[in-house]
Amino acid sequence: MKKILMLPGDGIGPEIIKQVFKILKNYSIIFNNIKFFFSYIGGISIDKFNSSLTKETIEQCNNCDSIFLGCVGGYKWNRNIEKPENGLLKLRKKFNFFSNIRPIKCPFKNIDMLIVRELTGGIYYGKPKGFSKQIINNIPSWYAYDTELYNEQEIIKIIKISLNLSLNRKKKICVIDKSNVLETSKLWRIVSNFLLKFYKNIKLSYLYIDFASIEIIKNFNKFDIIVTSNLFGDILSDECSLLTGSLGLLPSISINNNFLSLLEPCHGSAPDISGKNIANPIGSLLSLVLMMEYVFNDLKNSKKLYYCIYKVLSMGFGTLDMKKILNNFKLVTTEEFGDLVNHYFVLND
Ligand code: IPM
Ligand code: MN
Repeated sequence: MKKILMLPGDGIGPEIIKQVFKILKNYSIIFNNIKFFFSYIGGISIDKFNSSLTKETIEQCNNCDSIFLGCVGGYKWNRNIEKPENGLLKLRKKFNFFSNIRPIKCPFKNIDMLIVRELTGGIYYGKPKGFSKQIINNIPSWYAYDTELYNEQEIIKIIKISLNLSLNRKKKICVIDKSNVLETSKLWRIVSNFLLKFYKNIKLSYLYIDFASIEIIKNFNKFDIIVTSNLFGDILSDECSLLTGSLGLLPSISINNNFLSLLEPCHGSAPDISGKNIANPIGSLLSLVLMMEYVFNDLKNSKKLYYCIYKVLSMGFGTLDMKKILNNFKLVTTEEFGDLVNHYFVLND
């Protein structure tokens, strides 16, 4: 039996997770051994329990095979000391989801690459970090600081994952860093160059983040696997959504050493459009495709769902953000898009 914990979170999270759940319910009839649980994370958890990640949610994570997350955050909590995002960051760290795989794929445009983002280290977590006060020219002034820190073990783990993934792809990986300035980036280069010796016929290249952010748009077909730090991966994956057309399209999966997996779309909670039934559920639906493939080892249904999503898109149906991307565009709501995909998914063809 597989146990799945659903954490819809904030903003558009509940709306898009609802579409995933429509399909999951039908999938559980096919797969027949899935149990679901729902719980809280982020802002909604702060509102209810005064904590962005409660002991109860952690306990539920400990007792499941897979965590399916919507998104966290929103203006509402801007003034809070405890931010909704802390819940997500704690969850990633606590369960050691160090490698976050973000496929940038679009069958309409012949794009197929993977961003492998380090997820539990770097400047997101490095200590010391904080706010403090100092006197400058007799004036008390605030200052704030963060620390970018990577140890060899952390880099080894993420580079190894990327090298292994590349064996089943084009055997080409690009490390993106800022080694002309940052010490951490220098260590990334030393470690990746060393590890390459244990692999045959893999092409390893390096690019600085500033130039890479141009190349990735201009010459995306030169890339296959991109591996990078937590912060650079966060930024580059949002940028890559320009290639596929909408930030709402990108899924992600992270798997830890105990085979617990975390599925989440790459986008944020989009509070400006939440509750309006206009959010794009595809980032989450494609995360479900990844779950079927990697958690359930069910390539057949994973391919089927992928096909259904693109079938609906190729008929021109899409949420508002897809207007300029689709031929013969027909506007549908979040719910309607979910229903269409679900309709084709349950058809036995
Ligand atoms: C992402 C998000 C998160 C991140 C936020 C919500 C903390 O932007 O998953 O890309 O920065 O990792
Ligand atoms: Mn992000």
